[in-house]
Amino acid sequence: MVLLKVEKLTKKFGGLIANNNIDMEVHKGMILGLIGPNGAGKTTFFNCINGIYKINGGKILFENKNIAGLSTDRVCKYGITRTFQVVKPAENITVLDYVMSGAFCRTWNTSKARKTALEMLDFVGFDLYGKRDFLTKQLTLSDKKAIQIASTLATRPKILMLDEAMAGLTKNEQQDAIKLIKKIRDSGVTLIVVEHVMEIVMSIADKIVVLNSGIKIADDVPEKVANDPEVINAYLGGFDYAKDN
Ligand SMILES: Nc1ncnc2c1ncn2[C@@H]1O[C@H](COP(=O)(O)OP(=O)(O)OP(=O)(O)O)[C@@H](O)[C@H]1O
Ligand SMILES: [Mg+2]
Repeated sequence: MVLLKVEKLTKKFGGLIANNNIDMEVHKGMILGLIGPNGAGKTTFFNCINGIYKINGGKILFENKNIAGLSTDRVCKYGITRTFQVVKPAENITVLDYVMSGAFCRTWNTSKARKTALEMLDFVGFDLYGKRDFLTKQLTLSDKKAIQIASTLATRPKILMLDEAMAGLTKNEQQDAIKLIKKIRDSGVTLIVVEHVMEIVMSIADKIVVLNSGIKIADDVPEKVANDPEVINAYLGGFDYAKDN
């Protein structure tokens, strides 16, 4: 079932076309990997989908409704949430309060929001539940990334968009993050994952979309994308799918 269908999405910054006529289908339950070189338009695409940017053209159909032009909080209420590439939580709030801020997307009842937040801290792992009274500034980068995921999950998304959730993590932390992404998928959430570490994206994605200079240059299963000459030329370079999988 197609959950999100993007048609001819275009976003311009002056003369620069950051997203150029992008078509994309996201099926319920999948992990879609969104890859491409720096400046390809991946983060812009997330900003367009979740209403941070007004698009210049095209449609964003979520469960057959055009959500283009809606505000970020409306898009969140419909069920699409995202994390940010640069993690900067407010520093002087506790982990629990930070995650509760996500839960307030669905309720203004504080005890209900607290219950959801605690559930999500437990779900995400990384011993965040035990760190719920820490201030966010006391956390490591991987914990900051994890509380961001907990907070987005507290909004009860149908689609979660992760923008480089694993950048800057150690190999061991990356393995934990992969397990978490699969666990989120198994809980019924569809994921769009922007990721530069090819071994990771190739191993978790059901489908990969490649952007280059704002244009979609490939949209297929990982093994096909990994062997696509245009993708290799634009982005993959030395990545060897056969060797690394
Ligand atoms: N708010 C903005 N104003 C002007 N130009 C922007 C803005 N946001 C992004 N751009 C430009 O749009 C293009 C796409 O940027 P974007 O951040 O979407 O790329 P990306 O694929 O996420 O790259 P990276 O892998 O480095 O995160 C770049 O040329 C960038 O400089
Ligand atoms: Mg980006």
